[in-house]
Amino acid sequence: MNILLLGSGGREHALAWKIKQSPKVENLYVAPGNGGTAGLAQNVNIKADDFEAIKAFAIEKKIDMVVVGPEDPLVKGVYDFFQNDTQLKSIPVIGPSKQGAELEGSKDFAKAFMIRHNIPTAQYKSFTSATLEEGKKFLETLEAPYVLKADGLAAGKGVLIIPDLETAKLELANMLDGKFGAASATVVIEEFLSGIECSVFVLTDGESYKILPVAKDYKRIGEGDKGLNTGGMGAVSPVPFADATFMKKVEERIVIPTIKGLKEEKITYKGFIFLGLINVKNEPMVIEYNVRMGDPETEAVMLRIKSDLVDLFEGVAEGNLGSRVLEEDSRTAVTVMLVSGGYPEAYEKGKVITGLDKVENSIVFHAGTKIENGNIVTSGGRVMSVSSYGNTKAEALAQSFKNANTIDFEKKYFRRDIGFDL
Ligand code: AMP
Ligand code: GLY
Repeated sequence: MNILLLGSGGREHALAWKIKQSPKVENLYVAPGNGGTAGLAQNVNIKADDFEAIKAFAIEKKIDMVVVGPEDPLVKGVYDFFQNDTQLKSIPVIGPSKQGAELEGSKDFAKAFMIRHNIPTAQYKSFTSATLEEGKKFLETLEAPYVLKADGLAAGKGVLIIPDLETAKLELANMLDGKFGAASATVVIEEFLSGIECSVFVLTDGESYKILPVAKDYKRIGEGDKGLNTGGMGAVSPVPFADATFMKKVEERIVIPTIKGLKEEKITYKGFIFLGLINVKNEPMVIEYNVRMGDPETEAVMLRIKSDLVDLFEGVAEGNLGSRVLEEDSRTAVTVMLVSGGYPEAYEKGKVITGLDKVENSIVFHAGTKIENGNIVTSGGRVMSVSSYGNTKAEALAQSFKNANTIDFEKKYFRRDIGFDL
C-alpha cells in the first residue's frame, strides 16, 4: 500500500515509525513531515490542510490510504473532501467526518453531545456576547475555581482556570470580546472537577472499536506540574490508576455510549477518538474529546502496540475492525520531550542538534526539527521526544533521561520528573 500521513509533529513521527513496520506498506509519504520523518519516509512539501495539493499528490502517487495526524484538517473536513470527490472517494481517510470532528472543533457541541448520551462530564452552560450578563450570573452560582473554555480550536490555549469570581467575570467578557478570536465567540463555563487525568485512545470504524494503551501526559513546563502549559513535556503508559475496574467503567459509560451516540446521530466516524478523562474518586469523567491521537502520548502509546497498525487501519476502512487483533506490549513505555530554552514563551531556533548517533536503547521522535546544510537543527519549541521501554516506569524513565542527556543543543531543557504523580 501507499500511505499518505498528514502532519509534522512528534505524533506523526511516531505514527510513521509504527506504520513503517507494517509489511503491507510499500511507500509512506508524510505531508509536510519533519527532520525525523525524512529519515524513514518521504516528506512531501504540502501543508496538511491544503486539500487541493493533497488531492493532486494522492492521484499522482496512487495513494491507497490517508492517515490524518492533527485535528486541523479534520475539523476543516478532509474526510468529506475525499468522500465528495469522484477521484478520491475510494481512498479511505483514517479520521472522522467534518461533523464528527466537531467533538473537538466545538466544545459546546461536545458538551451537548455528552449530555444527550448521558456520558459523565462536568455541568456546563454556554454563552455568547448577547448573553454575557447571564454568563456572569451563572458564574455566581458556581464555586471557585472557575473553568472558562473557548468553544472553538485555540491551539490548546483556550481553557482558563481562574481562582476568583471577579477575574472570571472579567475574563468571560474578554473572551467573548475576541481574546481567542472567533474561537471564543462562544464560551463554555463548566464546573471544576478535581482529580488526576489520563488519556484514553479509541480506534473505531463507527461500529466496533479497539481501546489502545492508556497514557498520561505532562502539560506544564515546570517540574511538579508548575508553570505555563505547553504542547506536552512527556508521557507514560500504562497508567496504574486506570486499572481493569476503572477501564470497565470507561468502556461502559463513555466508549460505548460515544460510538452508539455517533451512530444514532448518523455522524460518520472512522478514526481515533481521544478521551481526555479525569478520575474523580474512581469515577471517570470526560474533560474533553479530541478527534486524533495525543501528542506526546502517541510517542509512548505506539511503543505499546504490538499488532500491525496498518492492519487495524484497514479494519477501520473496511468496517471490520472488530475482527482484527490488537495486541499490547506489557512493558512500560515513556517519552521525555526535549524543548528549546524559553519555550513555551519566546525561544531561539536553528540550534544544531548533536549526539543523536550516540543514543542507545531509546527511540527518538522529532517534533520541531529540520535539516539545514546537512545538520539536524531545531525548528520549534518542542524539539524531540525520547521514548523508551522498561519493565518498570523507573527503568524506562532512566533510559530516556540517559539519552536526553546525550542529545544536545544550545539551551536544551527537559522535565526530569515525568511520571512523578503515578
Ligand atoms: P481541555 O483543553 O478541555 O483539555 O482543558 C485543558 C486542561 O484544563 C485539561 O487538561 C484540564 O487539566 C483542565 N480542565 C479542563 N476542564 C476542566 C474541569 N472541568 N475541571 C478541572 N480541570 C479542567
Ligand atoms: N496531549 C494532549 C493533546 O494532544 O491534546
